[in-house]
Amino acid sequence: MVRHFFFTLLAMQYTHVLITGASSGIGEAIARSLAAKGCHLWLVARRKERLIALQDELQNQYPNIQVFVFALDVRSANAVKELFEDLSARELRPNVIVNNAGLAAGLAEVDVASPEDWDRMIDTNVKGALYVMKYGIPLLKNPQGGHIIQMSSVVSREVYAGGSVYSATKHALDAIHRTLRLELLPWPIKLTSINPGLVETEFSLVRFAGDADRAQQVYKDIEALKAEDVADVVAYCLSLPKHVNLPEVHITASAQATATKVRKKDGSIRG
Ligand SMILES: NC(=O)c1ccc[n+]([C@@H]2O[C@H](COP(=O)([O-])OP(=O)(O)OC[C@H]3O[C@@H](n4cnc5c(N)ncnc54)[C@H](OP(=O)(O)O)[C@@H]3O)[C@@H](O)[C@H]2O)c1
Repeated sequence: MVRHFFFTLLAMQYTHVLITGASSGIGEAIARSLAAKGCHLWLVARRKERLIALQDELQNQYPNIQVFVFALDVRSANAVKELFEDLSARELRPNVIVNNAGLAAGLAEVDVASPEDWDRMIDTNVKGALYVMKYGIPLLKNPQGGHIIQMSSVVSREVYAGGSVYSATKHALDAIHRTLRLELLPWPIKLTSINPGLVETEFSLVRFAGDADRAQQVYKDIEALKAEDVADVVAYCLSLPKHVNLPEVHITASAQATATKVRKKDGSIRG
């Protein structure tokens, strides 16, 4: 409670925030957290009904902010381009981009994994994130600048059996993030890569193609992070003074040592 009171008090440096993957999990939690801090929001994902429900809820709760929704697939370069062209023509536009949409598909070793799963991960996590950067960055290239938050993962620096391509996509994001820190240095644009460990969201449900029992096993008997924990960290990064940036933040549950090694509630070690 004290923690949440503290985070509510944080003053944001930038208050116009576009979030991809805002229809569930971490993105949705970021939207709620930033709405409470008075940020205007642009919510992006494919499931329009979820975005509209969140928009209605936040607009009712915080009448002083504006919440816009855009139902699109980040794998479509054209859709992302059109979104940012539309935004650049408007007076009210984002100065923060939270590049969060992403997924893992399957947990199979390379020789038996599905190439379709690889395509989905690469197209969403790498190419989709790149489209958002490519067409979003011009909005921030101005004297007021902005902030790009990239939702990566602890597996941007680790690997595990069955996670080759998911880890590869997050390794790729790490390379892109570090490159952008060089390319955007002439501009007052902050870049932060957030690297979470296990977070209990719909992530595993998506990974296991809707198999709820299998998804629950991932979080069974452990205290994983909640989406709100990651959202708190994002809010903190956005509240830092103009001259301060956190380029990389690793955040894991206290009971997690590596991507797969965790302490269960009974004290035994899994992984
Ligand atoms: N949960 C974890 O343990 C964990 C750990 C480290 C990093 N992460 C990263 O955190 C990010 C958010 O994941 P999460 O845990 O919050 O999972 P989640 O609950 O499944 O949320 C994923 C979000 O991404 C959106 N999305 C997926 N594909 C999309 C596409 N093609 N176009 C537009 N939006 C798309 C989904 O919306 P729609 O389905 O409505 O499009 C959803 O809003 C991901 O990048 C993930 O890799 C998660």
